Amino acid sequence: MLTGRRIVLGISGGVAAYKAAYLARRLVEAGASVRCVMTDAATEFLGAQTLAAITGEYPVLGFFDEPEVSPHTALGQWSDAMVIAPATAGTLAKLATGLSDNAMIATALAAEGPLVVAPAMHTEMWDKPSTQRNIATLLADGVTIVGPAEGALAGGDVGPGRLVEPEEIVAAVEASLNRDLEGWHVLVTAGGTREPIDPVRYLGNRSSGKMGNAIALAAAQRGASVVLVTAAPALRMAGVEVVAVETAQDMADAVWARVDDVDVAVMAAAVADFRPVTPADEKLRRAAGPPQIHLEPTPDILAGVAGREHRPFLVGFAAEAGSLDGAHHKATTKGVDLLVGNDVAKPGSGFATDTNQVTVYTPDGAADTWPLLSKTEVAERLWDRIRATYESG
Ligand code: PMT
Repeated sequence: MLTGRRIVLGISGGVAAYKAAYLARRLVEAGASVRCVMTDAATEFLGAQTLAAITGEYPVLGFFDEPEVSPHTALGQWSDAMVIAPATAGTLAKLATGLSDNAMIATALAAEGPLVVAPAMHTEMWDKPSTQRNIATLLADGVTIVGPAEGALAGGDVGPGRLVEPEEIVAAVEASLNRDLEGWHVLVTAGGTREPIDPVRYLGNRSSGKMGNAIALAAAQRGASVVLVTAAPALRMAGVEVVAVETAQDMADAVWARVDDVDVAVMAAAVADFRPVTPADEKLRRAAGPPQIHLEPTPDILAGVAGREHRPFLVGFAAEAGSLDGAHHKATTKGVDLLVGNDVAKPGSGFATDTNQVTVYTPDGAADTWPLLSKTEVAERLWDRIRATYESG
């Protein structure tokens, strides 16, 4: 709930601006006092009068012709949090560089609370390196990015770029104001390890790091101090110390060196179970025929943490295909406090997707199956669950 919270809703000029009226309504229903600021282009898609009727306040439309001497600073200082929805590619660029040539960006600069941004644009624009660079900058600055979703876009196109539904944006605003993990130290693993065969090739897996990144980011946004040990290309994220690793051995060394200093460890990485005994020094040549590659087990990082005398609260993951029986078994035998099973053969679940459908097990084998959710929502729910279990035990 947002009871008593003061939320500024910024609206930039894309066709999804019409959904901002629904978002304003949902924020008011959640108990917030809402004031809006619109770019000129936004007013082409949505009437200021509509927002005034929903929020009880006429939106700020510019620096001038407003009753306030300095409308952007007054609005920014008034707010507990700001949300910009929809955020166009141009708005992302301005936010990332601090180019405050309209009252909405200036308000975002003047505001001191959390900023939630919900991008919406055509897929080609979303995919552009410049847009992705701006998103990376905003994440590194501690901005919460929600969406975009995949679906129908303006002009009959279909793809990633659609504004997420107002309910998901409200949940992100609520989460952005939640600092319930302040004072916690947590370690998260992410990505798929790579075990060299020769200087060119490796044994790897399909993990993108998205699940672990979402868990690390959610914890940081809720106030925890976070170490992310990752074998995936790492995003810079405010409040997250990133330790980049490649092999299972690197990850084991990094985790075991740090795990005594944390309250909670969440092991979402997909770690190789076997590695070539002796990687070749030189590139293996086709002309030499198929190589015989002898494998040996990698260290079991999770077991190394579970076996410690004073171990942190420990959460394992299990990637299974077709049935979660293996996840149930791991929950009861691996010495973890919680185990998150996902069926990577299910559409929308597991590797490299933006969504996941998980079942959370306790060591007695009890299972709690969640619906298909965005990885961000899985991460938020998982921290709720960890906190409840940690504090009750
Ligand atoms: O990164 P994404 O593309 O978003 O995909 C997310 C995911 C599918 C990788 C993630 O949700 C997931 O399921 N991670 C665990 C994958 C895995 O390795 O599962 P497992 O059942 O093989 O391992 C069980 C647990 O032991 C895991 O917590 C794993 O990190 C850990 N392990 C495994 C092997 C090993 N040598 N050491 C370990 O610590």
